[in-house]
Parts: sequence; structure tokens; C-alpha cells
Amino acid sequence: MTEPVIRTRGLTKWYGRNRGIEGLDLEVGPGEIVGYLGPNGAGKTTTIRLLLDLIRPSRGSAELFGLDVRRHGADLRRRVGYLPGGLRLYESLSGRELLDYFGGLRGRRDRLLEARLAKRLDLDLTREIRSLSHGTKQKVGLVAALAAAPDLLILDEPTTGLDPLVQIELFELLTEVRGEGRTVFLSSHILPEVERACDRVAFIREGRLVAMEAIAAFKARAVRRVELQFAEPVPAGAFAGLPGVRDVAQDGTTLTCSVTGPVDAVVKEAARHTVVAVTSAEPSLEDLFLAQYREAADAA
Ligand SMILES: Nc1ncnc2c1ncn2[C@@H]1O[C@H](COP(=O)(O)OP(=O)(O)OP(=O)(O)O)[C@@H](O)[C@H]1O
Ligand SMILES: [Mg+2]
Repeated sequence: MTEPVIRTRGLTKWYGRNRGIEGLDLEVGPGEIVGYLGPNGAGKTTTIRLLLDLIRPSRGSAELFGLDVRRHGADLRRRVGYLPGGLRLYESLSGRELLDYFGGLRGRRDRLLEARLAKRLDLDLTREIRSLSHGTKQKVGLVAALAAAPDLLILDEPTTGLDPLVQIELFELLTEVRGEGRTVFLSSHILPEVERACDRVAFIREGRLVAMEAIAAFKARAVRRVELQFAEPVPAGAFAGLPGVRDVAQDGTTLTCSVTGPVDAVVKEAARHTVVAVTSAEPSLEDLFLAQYREAADAA
């Protein structure tokens, strides 16, 4: 098996008596885009700061590329690009001067790549940071993180303040990063914003990992509302007994039901009659996400 790019074991952080995260076991492989999702205060930023060795764990460990972050900070910083949440930049510099500064710290830089990234994100690097809007400052931070061409990109709420077109461009860039076999770990509290770009999502709630799975698998478990319109009324009972089917309701020639997993059985049963129309509402990941949290809350 290839070595995970990120691996935490029992990672725990208490801020005095305040819970940060508890017993976090996380694994992210190379060439993945993983979304780290959770509501405000769930522990996303805490996790990210622990991964970067900016804060120290109360218990447990974190490794990047198989190296303990506490002991290999200097080496690891060369391989990791980081966008902090609630980004603060040196206000009196221009975007370009700021990149000069970061490049100096890093000991290498790629001006061509910086310029290309700035163009893709529609960012003018000559303007002073203080004159930039919130979203534009965020772009400067993104260019700085991406321009290091790191093996791992850790982005804390990268979409904050970006308008939809720029978000799409950002995800395009991240997909290219993945295409080069590099890895992206990004936090968000807005699932629909990131779902398209991510291979897997991890959900964190009150400091604990609730679930981590492939977007596709997550969707496969989803409940769809299916509406079938027939040429004439059909016996509803035949549908109620099908695998994964619940809440069958009939109104004249229209039959609706909720289906978990494949809709195959429903379609085959429907095909015994004359079907006029079929509609199926794709569940939003937002709904799934909330269901996931409810399950976790019920289990607790
Ligand atoms: N410096 C700190 N001192 C005390 N408690 C802290 C500190 N930083 C974070 N916490 C607490 O740790 C928990 C997790 O916070 P964290 O910032 O990691 O959440 P988050 O998921 O990033 O939230 P958001 O979506 O709002 O950014 C919260 O309860 C928060 O109050
Ligand atoms: Mg945060």
C-alpha cells in the first residue's frame, strides 16, 4: 500500500478545559482531494494547525508523508502549501511584494507560476494588500499557497469570500494539482461548494470524526424521492414491498416513494405498467450531511 500523505492517530487537542478535537484518526492518500467538513467550532482549524505543527497536541500524533510533524517541521514545510483560515496579510505590501517575502522564506520561487496563477484567479499582483477586498486578499493567499507547487496543499476555508466563478476556477486548479499526483486537504462548512471537487469527504462534529467516505459511496446510500406517473392507477402494494422502498403514496395515477440505494427494482416494477413520466430528485449532499449529523447525535 502506498504511504498515506496525512495520517493522524488519536489526535487530541484540549485548550485548557475547552475541547478542540478528540481522538481523531484520519488518513488521506496521495493524489486525493479531501474535503474536511463541519459546522463552526467543530475542530477543523484545530486539526489543520496540528497538522502544520503550529499548535501542539494534548495526545496522539500526526504524520505527513510518514514523518512525525513534531520532529520534521522544517522538512515538511517545504512540501506543504498552506492557506490559513481568516487570512491576515501584511497590509502595506503589494501582492507581488508579499510573494517575494514568502519566496524568500521558502528559499525558492517560481515567478512564472505565480503570474499564471494570478491570471487564472483574475488577481492584480501590483495592488497594495490594504486596498483589496476580502475575497481578493483570499486570492493572494491562494496564489502564495499554490505557487510553492507543494506535494500537499492544506487549505482552511479556501472558498471564503470568493465569488462563484473564481470558486470554479480554484477547483479547476485543485483538480490539476491532483492530476499531478499531489494531494489537497481543504476545510469548509459548506458542502455543496466543495462536493464537486472532492474525492472524499470527512465530517467532523464536536471535535470527533463522524464519517469519512467517498462522495460516490455517500451518494449511493442516499435516499431519492421518486415520482412515477402511470397511464392508469396501479396497485401500490407491489411497490411498498420492494427493497429500499419506503413511504409509498398514491394520488390517482401518480405514485411517489422514497428509495434508498439503486432504483432498479422500482423501475422494473413500474415497467409492468404504462409509464407516462418519471422524476427523481437527487438528494442534496446538504440533506445527507444533516442526516449524517443526526445519526451521530442519536448514537451519542
Ligand atoms: N485558542 C483557543 N482557545 C480556546 N479554545 C479554542 C481555541 N481555538 C479553538 N478553540 C475551540 O476549539 C473548538 C474547535 O475550534 P476550531 O477553530 O478548530 O473550529 P472550526 O471547525 O475551525 O470552526 P469554524 O468553522 O468556525 O472555523 C471550538 O470549540 C473553539 O472554541
Ligand atoms: Mg476554522
